[in-house]
Amino acid sequence: MSTPQPILPSSVPAQTTPVPANQRVIKLLVRQDVRDAQRIDWLCEQIVRNRFMPVPPPENVFVGDGDFRAIGAEFLKHFVKLGDLRPADRVLEIGCGIGRMALPLTQYLTDGTYDGMDVVPDGIAWCARAITPAYPAFRFHHMDVANDLYNPQGRIEPTAVTLPFRDQGFDFVLLTSVLTHLQAAEALAYAWEISRLLRPGGRCFLSLFLMNDVAREGLRGGDRRLAFDPDAEGPTWLADPAIPSAAVAHDEAFLLDLFASVGLKPARPTVYGTWCGRTNAVSYQDLLVLEKAALP
Ligand SMILES: C[S@@+](CC[C@H](N)C(=O)[O-])C[C@H]1O[C@@H](n2cnc3c(N)ncnc32)[C@H](O)[C@@H]1O
Repeated sequence: MSTPQPILPSSVPAQTTPVPANQRVIKLLVRQDVRDAQRIDWLCEQIVRNRFMPVPPPENVFVGDGDFRAIGAEFLKHFVKLGDLRPADRVLEIGCGIGRMALPLTQYLTDGTYDGMDVVPDGIAWCARAITPAYPAFRFHHMDVANDLYNPQGRIEPTAVTLPFRDQGFDFVLLTSVLTHLQAAEALAYAWEISRLLRPGGRCFLSLFLMNDVAREGLRGGDRRLAFDPDAEGPTWLADPAIPSAAVAHDEAFLLDLFASVGLKPARPTVYGTWCGRTNAVSYQDLLVLEKAALP
């Protein structure tokens, strides 16, 4: 008796040409990428729903409106997908506020470490109380740096700030909505520090307002929720000259030159946001990922 053969539709050839090994590897890599993307999407959905994760009382949140948990989860996705953050990275957050980014990071940095610094003592105190006891690899540091919106009486000159961490001790530095409150000279001081603190090949993730021709055009026609004058001279635009740090936009080319001068170059194209009237954007602010030049 002969062995039964599978019945194949007539259009399917019984034998196919073998896929070359290099194409098989590419297919596997693509599938791994898709799997990683799905995993981070799933994790971020869990973070939004996770009622056990602490959240500061609404009256103590000084970092802006919106859903605290959802914004943090949105940014975790950006850190991973755009910034290539890895679970074992050593992360520094400059301007960590009251833990909006740190909380979702506790669920992702399983083998890494996190240091956050800010100029507002209450935000740091809340994070140290609510996060560090459960996640000892998450540490928070207050520095009394002056900022006319957040810390007007600060004793440390913002243009002379030195962070208390060793050279090249971090893989990933993040500043979300922080350069939106700093002048060019303050941004330069931090650019030096970021370059000093990142290991070669490390990345810096920023969300900010980048002024360029498209942004100017958008601001001319838009609702001007942010009162930057698109026809004023740069390289820095202030929404409210009475409180310069209230909202700051930076000329894109100027800022990229400033970072390039300390060895930080774009790691990927900028992802522009909706703040100036763009549509179909993934975020409100522009998202910039820089990379510290690798050693030759
Ligand atoms: C809009 S909040 C964003 C907070 C946090 N990055 C987030 O996304 O939740 C801006 C933060 O920048 C901080 N900040 C202002 N000036 C600073 C400076 N010179 N150095 C570090 N942080 C500063 C403020 O204290 C505040 O927490």
